[in-house]
Amino acid sequence: MLLGIISALAEEQQGLVEAMQSPYKLVHGQRTYWVGQLWEIDAVCVLSRIGKVAAAVTATTLVEKFGVTHILFTGVAGAGDKSVRVGDIVVAESLVQHDMDASPLFPRFEVPLTGLTHFPADHHLSTRLADAAYAFLDEDFAAAIAPQERAAFGLTRPRVHRGLIASGDQFMDDPAHINRLNADLPGLVAVEMEGAAVAQACYELAIPCAVMRTISDNANENAATDFLRFVKSVAAQYAFYVVRRFCRQDEETVKIQASRESAGT
Ligand code: ADE
Repeated sequence: MLLGIISALAEEQQGLVEAMQSPYKLVHGQRTYWVGQLWEIDAVCVLSRIGKVAAAVTATTLVEKFGVTHILFTGVAGAGDKSVRVGDIVVAESLVQHDMDASPLFPRFEVPLTGLTHFPADHHLSTRLADAAYAFLDEDFAAAIAPQERAAFGLTRPRVHRGLIASGDQFMDDPAHINRLNADLPGLVAVEMEGAAVAQACYELAIPCAVMRTISDNANENAATDFLRFVKSVAAQYAFYVVRRFCRQDEETVKIQASRESAGT
């Protein structure tokens, strides 16, 4: 496996780059790629920047220039459903571009000439990522997130959700818009600005991908408040510890997974 790890924001990438063994830096096409090993896994870390085009270019470059065989995306997202709360983790099962609308030529949400509205995340990779997320919340969360940050953001018992992520070139801060999207896209759990573009690029190049998002806001008028504080003190920690567990797939993860399965949760 040569794992490409894309982060949308620098704060999320920093810890991973610091943890890399024998990293070297390669600048290409206005992006810096860090090539090395992360917990024994060969990896390339890169910042996509924000938006669907930036994300698709980054994913394609990882595959075509660096030869990555799998792609992980980490970032933050707005809640796409009432059951999803700030501090929860969402792992995509599939992804849709919510601002794609070539109707009446093609059905709403369909990416013209692909025949698809929803692009799948790789099931195996996503399950491994979700297992890492469960293990993070069970084992690392209390120590990783400072008590004052937990209190500030009301993080009590964060959960993992698996479902549909909708991406578009728009920061969502209108609850009416989210309600309409939620009605139009059954199973919606989160909204963000890159995941579905990575999923489309990976689909076209036949590369397995998985997307993890920490919920930073409720996609309402408060969405931008304390956004950077959340990214630094919460989301960056989530991304680091979940990716570490993903890479290590250590004994602990296997044990927790087994006990969760036997408890039927
Ligand atoms: N990423 C984090 N919060 C978001 C929001 N409300 N809309 C789009 N992308 C986001």
